[in-house]
Amino acid sequence: MFKLLFGLITISLAAAPISLTPPKAEETTLYLTWVRDPTTTMTIQWHSEGKTDTRVHYKKTGEEGWRQETGSDRPLTDSTLYVHTVELTHLAPNTTYTFKVGENTASHRFRTLPASLDERPVRFAIGGDAYCSLALFRKMNAQIAKQNPDFVVVAGDIAYTRNHGDFFRGSAWEVKRWGTFFAEWKKQLVTDDGRLIPMIPLLGNHDIAAKPNLPFYFFELFALPTQNLAYRTLDCGNYLSLFLLDSGHAAPIEGKQTEWLKESLAARTAVPHRMAIYHIAAYPSSYSYEERGLQAEIRRHWCPLFDAYNIPLAFEHHNHTFKRTYPLKAGQIDPAGTTYLGDGSWGCRPRQVHPDWYLAKALPLNAFWLATLSPSETSMQAIDIQGNTFDSLQLPNTQAITNGKN
Ligand SMILES: [Fe+2]
Repeated sequence: MFKLLFGLITISLAAAPISLTPPKAEETTLYLTWVRDPTTTMTIQWHSEGKTDTRVHYKKTGEEGWRQETGSDRPLTDSTLYVHTVELTHLAPNTTYTFKVGENTASHRFRTLPASLDERPVRFAIGGDAYCSLALFRKMNAQIAKQNPDFVVVAGDIAYTRNHGDFFRGSAWEVKRWGTFFAEWKKQLVTDDGRLIPMIPLLGNHDIAAKPNLPFYFFELFALPTQNLAYRTLDCGNYLSLFLLDSGHAAPIEGKQTEWLKESLAARTAVPHRMAIYHIAAYPSSYSYEERGLQAEIRRHWCPLFDAYNIPLAFEHHNHTFKRTYPLKAGQIDPAGTTYLGDGSWGCRPRQVHPDWYLAKALPLNAFWLATLSPSETSMQAIDIQGNTFDSLQLPNTQAITNGKN
């Protein structure tokens, strides 16, 4: 018996060598995002233990000869890590590139967006409230990756690092949790043909600095057009503008941000695909509509702008449910209004739905929205944790609205 057991242990050790040292940040933390036009740029970020080389070598996949670009690095507060950021510019649209970062020899791939939707459709996923339960996060990541999206918008509550027992947890715990989030992303958010899928991060209430003397890791980890400002637009060629908003976490809704939003919307009325994305829901599906605070502020300050500038789609989260509203304008159901989609159920246990007059469909399940943009329409699919499409919506580019399946 002893011999048999010893034999089995020997065989299993031989078959699967066990490493006692955890993988280094250089191997697990590499992520892509965009600060500027995704048709011609790519921003590459990675972490290293201590200060290392901040260079990216890159080339069009299949071509000879590496080009190189240097970026910047900064130490991550209360850790031994450095965050490296390199933006590649003057890239060819709709092109796959191969790249290597720092002193690492492993090569990876990314793809730029097309200059025009006539070249090919653009497809991207939108979800929020992501790494809450690791098991749910992983299952949903697998479904998102299966769709081979061009990019994914993570609309707040990215890694749940704040407001969950902060009293007993310090920066070390938080850095480790961000590390798990990035490691999972690098492992899972990869397309069938091996491209890393870029993330567009937004702020949520669980991503903020809980106390003024603690680090605000969102701003240390993610490259943004303006430092310490989470709200911004992302213009993709001349066919898509995403209005990425901060629903009152690092910047107030009222005042400067709303004024900026008005100017940004006014400057982009000719863009065929325009969407607003943020964390707290103006039209919640689990929280009560009557609750005051940030959701009422969004209805007061942002929704009238969506009405005035004919924004067909707004994506909301924070509720841990699925939702699609009727098209809404001036606080009423109106076929010419904005449809609010959500509702933040990527990796959290779903909550019960709170029925209300504006909800065309709401369910307590894990889901994300998948957008497919073509020259003639925006097609939206809601996909659940099993990979089933259970709801959809088509919007012609005239911005007239066709109701989806119920
Ligand atoms: Fe939230």
